[in-house]
Amino acid sequence: MGVFASSDDPGSSGHEQVVFCQDKQTGLRAIIAIHSTALGPALGGTRFYPYASEAEALADVLDLSRGMAYKNALAGLDLGGGKAVIWGDPEKLKSEALLRAYGRFVESLRGRYYTACDVGTYVADMDVIARETRFVTGRSVEHGGAGDSSVLTAWGVFQGMRAAAEHVWGTPTLAGRTVGVAGLGKVGRHLTGHLIDDGARVVATDVSPRACEWARQTYPQVELVSDVTALITADIDVYAPCALGGALNDDTVPALRAKVVAGAANNQLAHPGVEKLLAERGVLYAPDYVVNAGGVIQVADEIDGFNFERAKLRATRIYDTTREILRLADADGVPPAEAADRLAERRMADVGRLRTILLP
Ligand SMILES: NC(=O)c1ccc[n+]([C@@H]2O[C@H](COP(=O)([O-])OP(=O)(O)OC[C@H]3O[C@@H](n4cnc5c(N)ncnc54)[C@H](O)[C@@H]3O)[C@@H](O)[C@H]2O)c1
Repeated sequence: MGVFASSDDPGSSGHEQVVFCQDKQTGLRAIIAIHSTALGPALGGTRFYPYASEAEALADVLDLSRGMAYKNALAGLDLGGGKAVIWGDPEKLKSEALLRAYGRFVESLRGRYYTACDVGTYVADMDVIARETRFVTGRSVEHGGAGDSSVLTAWGVFQGMRAAAEHVWGTPTLAGRTVGVAGLGKVGRHLTGHLIDDGARVVATDVSPRACEWARQTYPQVELVSDVTALITADIDVYAPCALGGALNDDTVPALRAKVVAGAANNQLAHPGVEKLLAERGVLYAPDYVVNAGGVIQVADEIDGFNFERAKLRATRIYDTTREILRLADADGVPPAEAADRLAERRMADVGRLRTILLP
């Protein structure tokens, strides 16, 4: 296991600690990155992905762990930001022994890092990892876990969308509005339910025929369109990207008809500068990592013994946080994405500083 810790050298990535883990027998190659523990132990999922190179895996984990520090800070959690990647094809490589070997490396950090599910890892994997470490969330309900995190992710997105609606139209409801949902997966489905209950009209699209069939059966009133291009050029008030990242780019932003963007997908802005493009077009963008924090709120709750109602209450506060960010953005004359970053940095600095008050 090779370990290096970054200093506060401004030329470094700013991470506290990056740990390389290897177990030749099982083929495990993992990197755990802790961006910040200013607010508490670092929490973030484990991505199991066939990266082309170690450099690509490292770049991804550094980026993702930094994102988690900001997300956890704005979610109001006493948790810092971390993330891990396992480099390899999960289809070929995943085994009980590999996951348990990985769990032992997580345990070796003695609680500086808590893991969870991400792309390529599932609730059942977390149950296996939990046989070697206490520092794991996202386990099954039978193992004391929070189960499927898409439930509160969707609830949080709905709350963030209500705050954006209030900012633009004056009332915190989607009643009478048309919302375009791109991606009817785990989150998109729950979100569609909340929107319909609230009195919104939903237009949706998904590449999966099974997902479209689900919509036809469950919500026949949902209008299905052929693809994302048809969705964003339809007469919608709100666009909710709930599929993959990069939904907002140089091609989609000029074509958008919606006045608000609020959705679950991670990394919606394809590159820096897209947030300005949105602002110039008069589109209100509710930052992805703010509104999609319900999932991490749900799994973080496991650390104290999972309580759904408590976690839901916390996810409901995404409404207040989004509201505050939109207010700050107006006050400071910056796009909401920048206002969110500033607020997260302020909480990490203000609350993180309290640790300097010695408690003997
Ligand atoms: N599940 C969570 O708790 C959670 C938490 C935070 C963020 N997110 C993010 O939210 C997004 C959705 O998550 P999920 O758990 O619902 O995933 P999912 O895999 O269950 O659903 C994604 C859906 O998008 C569809 N899709 C893929 N490409 C598409 C395209 N080009 N056009 C239309 N539909 C397309 C898929 O067919 C699938 O139905 C992801 O970006 C995820 O990273 C999820």
